[in-house]
Amino acid sequence: MITNFEQLEQDMASTPSFDGQLAKLVHLTNSNGMSVSFMDIGATWLSCSIPVNEEAREVLLRSPNMAEHMEQNAYFGAIVGRFANRIAKGQFELEGKRYQLGVNNDENSLHGGLEGFDKKRWAIFEQGTQQVVFMLHSESGDQGYPGNIDIKVTYTLNNSNELSIVYEATTDQTSPVNLTNHAYFNLAGNNSGNKSLDHELQLNAAHYLPTDSGLIPTGELKAVQDTSFDFSEAKLVGKDFLTEHDQKIAGGYDHAFVFQPEVADGESVAAVLVAPAKEVVMKVKTTKPAIQFYSGNFLAGTPGKSKNYELYDGLCLETQYFPDGPNKPEWGANRGFLKSGELYQHQTVYQFEF
Ligand code: GLA
Repeated sequence: MITNFEQLEQDMASTPSFDGQLAKLVHLTNSNGMSVSFMDIGATWLSCSIPVNEEAREVLLRSPNMAEHMEQNAYFGAIVGRFANRIAKGQFELEGKRYQLGVNNDENSLHGGLEGFDKKRWAIFEQGTQQVVFMLHSESGDQGYPGNIDIKVTYTLNNSNELSIVYEATTDQTSPVNLTNHAYFNLAGNNSGNKSLDHELQLNAAHYLPTDSGLIPTGELKAVQDTSFDFSEAKLVGKDFLTEHDQKIAGGYDHAFVFQPEVADGESVAAVLVAPAKEVVMKVKTTKPAIQFYSGNFLAGTPGKSKNYELYDGLCLETQYFPDGPNKPEWGANRGFLKSGELYQHQTVYQFEF
């Protein structure tokens, strides 16, 4: 029988990627039978296999092959940047100068623009059995952004079933920098028939960022209390689904939830996702100020490994700065600007209990 690693190699590394070359894959395993796989295209997290009742369960969504991976705009498992999420009209002003980025989401720029970091080939700088380090250089002017930046993303799988992602970046000129991973989780298994709506979610956030119909935050920090956005106690995602205007314009949840500063210390549990049958739990810890909770509202019709995905077949928990931060001076340090001489350093941990 073909192993999961062999299957991944066959699916993703047997036909050329964007640059005409084959993708390179890296596989990590731990002592509890958990394994994770990545590829250099987009420094993408391709697979997360956990043993449940003695069977390997794939809890990530992905494309069936490289050709489909290049076509999809779900951003399956990729590192997105230079600026994750949306920048209104792809424009922002910095130090008196106006910048125009590539526009790829109606009138807005999404996940870095036309050729974001998800589409680039990253260098594999180091690799071991439980760790891989990817690096990327993005030149000044890349997709319209100022400043040469160097990025390092380190994925580590430990024996406590934690997949940690450490993000580091430096620049020679102030630039928006907001890096996240765009993995889609389905803790019942990517082919289970269960939906994001069947999962229980808890978010240690007292506020969320309402948006306009183009999913650009209005600027308001709205209290979650007494709204369908209140996940401060664990709640079924489907419970108050599409009950309010702020969700209806987004087709579900596709919003930044703002962590209390003490939650974003990298060690506190900031979010908890529970599988429909409760046999798998995923905890998220992070140093980022917010998390985009996206319930899979644009997934319909995207070809996937196990089937053509339908609405809500998986959900994302993307730790990040505030969407459209570059256009919101009032948001201070949460805007996501990196200055020359500073080190961008963040960590997000996804811990699995099974
Ligand atoms: C992000 C966005 C969503 C959607 C997905 C990709 O999570 O917030 O609106 O664009 O990426 O489909």
